[in-house]
Amino acid sequence: MNPSFPIRPEAAQTKVSGIVEVVDYGRLKPGLIPLWVGEGDLSTPAFIAEAATRSLAAGETFYTWQRGIPELRAAIAAYMGRVYGRSFSPDRFTVTIGGMHAMQIAARLASGEGDEVIVPTPAWPNFAGALGVAGARVVEVPMTLSELGWRFDANEIARAVTKRTRAIVINSPSNPTGWTATGEELRAVLELARDKGLWIIADEIYGRYVYDDAIAIDGRAPSFHDYAQDDDLILYCQTMSKNWAMTGWRIGWIEAPAALGQTIENLVQYSSSGVPVFVQRAAITALEHGESFVAHQIARARRGREIVYDALAGIPGLVAPKPPGALYAFFALPGRDARATAFRLIDEAGVGLAPGGAFGDNARDCLRLCFARKAEDLEETMRRLEPVLTEIAGAAA
Ligand SMILES: Cc1ncc(COP(=O)(O)O)c(C=O)c1O
Repeated sequence: MNPSFPIRPEAAQTKVSGIVEVVDYGRLKPGLIPLWVGEGDLSTPAFIAEAATRSLAAGETFYTWQRGIPELRAAIAAYMGRVYGRSFSPDRFTVTIGGMHAMQIAARLASGEGDEVIVPTPAWPNFAGALGVAGARVVEVPMTLSELGWRFDANEIARAVTKRTRAIVINSPSNPTGWTATGEELRAVLELARDKGLWIIADEIYGRYVYDDAIAIDGRAPSFHDYAQDDDLILYCQTMSKNWAMTGWRIGWIEAPAALGQTIENLVQYSSSGVPVFVQRAAITALEHGESFVAHQIARARRGREIVYDALAGIPGLVAPKPPGALYAFFALPGRDARATAFRLIDEAGVGLAPGGAFGDNARDCLRLCFARKAEDLEETMRRLEPVLTEIAGAAA
């Protein structure tokens, strides 16, 4: 909070990310393996980038459709149809500046001053950030970690609902925990939301990364799309960032009941005023021709997860159940302050991990490692981490 300028409390209360201070400390260390943020090591495939340069060369440098160019909205609808096995109208989709902008629009549609929004934690901190900027109060519902994984209980969500509750955020598969909702859990949340007239903000951006066949449906995570009707109160946030290695392009989409299209268009108009056309052209190419690249990314993540968890299993004193989905190892050193550990791992192991406290108070002894990286780097990472984590976990025992 800066007392010298009369800015709005919603802006003044925004927090520095707990990951950034660790990144700032370690980013210049020579030879450091950076696994602290949620992105892989592959740059965008050339065939996707070339679609953007072709568009620029053709002079597509003007203002455009606020909701996204019609060709991209049609490509998104077709892609969603292939993944979820049902048909989608392009009218449900609006193109945004990444998943983050989709989340910001969802927060503004569903909540504001005096409203409460339920977020199961640990959670990606940008949910609370976007909701706070919209003026809403986040009500955390802490999940618990055991050797079996992170436990989610829809009854605890129901108990957190008050007269002021407007929405529930469900991020499955989750960043950071990898928790992946079963169909039954999604149905329970949907029933609760229908019963109380609440919005669901569904972040399913890691939906293609699921490793547990007992949970998966057709090789992807269960989704609200499997159970919901088109007019259910659900706002889906999506992104091109992870599947197609496009984090720096800043493009994603929000999916909502078609009747909200004009309102969402207005919110785009008064925030970003649209997404550059050449970026949208690249997104069309990715959606229409990128499936073998996505399959490659998924296979790589699967292998990365194996390497990391094979090594973690050999370190006594950790609580490190394998996550069923997403791109992260999120494990606990019980009784240890993960922030201090993260700094120590930079100095002593040359590895950058994110401290769990950035994702919730119930994860202050956890560390997050992104395993979307080539096998050799992850093997080297685990060789470096093993002696330091063994010492720290042993000292805690
Ligand atoms: C759960 C979750 N949702 C949304 C996003 C948004 O990604 P982007 O803004 O790059 O599209 C991220 C990025 O890490 C994420 O982890």
